[in-house]
Amino acid sequence: MANFADWQLNTYFAGLGGAVPEHPFTSRELAARAEAAMDRQLWDYVVGGAGDEATQDANVEAFGRYGLMPRMLSGAAARDLSTTLWGIELASPVFMAPVGVIGLCAADQHGDLAAARAAAAVGVPLVGSTLMQDPLEEVARQLGETPGFFQLYTPNDREVAESLAHRAEAAGYRALVVTLDTWTLGYRPRDLQHGIFPQLKGACLANYASDPVFRSRLPKTPEEDPMGFVAHWAMTFGNPTLTWEDVAWLRGLTDLPLVLKGICSPDDVRRAVDAGVDGIYCSNHGGRQAASAPALEFLPSVVAAAGDLPVLFDSGIRSGVDVVKALALGATAVGIGRPYAYAAAAASGDAAGGIEHLLRWVLAEADLTMGLNGYASIAALREAGAVFRL
Ligand code: FNR
Repeated sequence: MANFADWQLNTYFAGLGGAVPEHPFTSRELAARAEAAMDRQLWDYVVGGAGDEATQDANVEAFGRYGLMPRMLSGAAARDLSTTLWGIELASPVFMAPVGVIGLCAADQHGDLAAARAAAAVGVPLVGSTLMQDPLEEVARQLGETPGFFQLYTPNDREVAESLAHRAEAAGYRALVVTLDTWTLGYRPRDLQHGIFPQLKGACLANYASDPVFRSRLPKTPEEDPMGFVAHWAMTFGNPTLTWEDVAWLRGLTDLPLVLKGICSPDDVRRAVDAGVDGIYCSNHGGRQAASAPALEFLPSVVAAAGDLPVLFDSGIRSGVDVVKALALGATAVGIGRPYAYAAAAASGDAAGGIEHLLRWVLAEADLTMGLNGYASIAALREAGAVFRL
């Protein structure tokens, strides 16, 4: 199998013929182009986070505190970045984290479909959010052979949660990722300043509008009474009373692998393991919910407590180098969040193409970082203790 890094050669070959690349090659440039292209409210929703945004900034900065030990003449000309999640073989350990407004980030407002198409093109799994612009079944159809995982925000109406989980399983998603850190909305000054956020305008609620159980709760259909629909969504979106005792119920919702997202404490990992989950997703929601500490700093103890369970990680990944550092610190798979929303928005009309480009350069950079530092596989990276604190 070719190295992911070989992809960059295409750019230089095309350059020999005079072609100048359309899409950018860094997250920083993607963000700049996205800001210029996006509606201000939407930009603030995507880029913003909780409080003074120190946690989200710290997520990114944390990667600078770790280094990788370069090793020479170690025979890393061919690399294997493959990994396995719940028996699913993946060519790379990268996935797209759930981003609830990815739908709006595409010019045609169908960014969930675009992300799924990019997933299909590159073989990078998509964790589809509960908050989609298109129903989860339509998004699943765009995934091709690439696995999709469904992220569930657990509503306070259990039958709606059950319906969403069953639909995800029937649609072919390969894991259920339950997000625990958003049982209510974080304190987000940018959104407060606008006085609104996308879902309150009825956006990204297609999975509710298309859900027979959710619809059965409404006196009028969402089409007849859009305001009533949004109001009912707002009243039922989160479930503040959910506790560890309820994980047995979540476990019973599906035969799919069950993953809990938002776990940072090793004690919580142990409770999750005891509850019979299949994966731990270490994340602080990109600093959008509780102000805490850089998610990367939690990763090693989460990995240690998780034992044989896979640990997914996100929060602050901005490059292929970050991916390798997270892998070296023990993550099984690494999620890209905001950058693919930027890629969708920056790609003026070709959101799938923009996301595909981002995924390809992140993979190329991760692969080159492994190879040039002398590590031919993720196992080699870990066995050598390649990562160290600066
Ligand atoms: C998110 N995130 C998120 N998480 C989730 O479980 N369900 C969701 O619907 C969303 N929606 C969402 C929207 C936007 C605009 C952002 C930026 C993030 C959190 C996401 O999955 C991930 O944890 C963070 O994006 C990671 O932080 P960085 O790397 O993007 O800064």
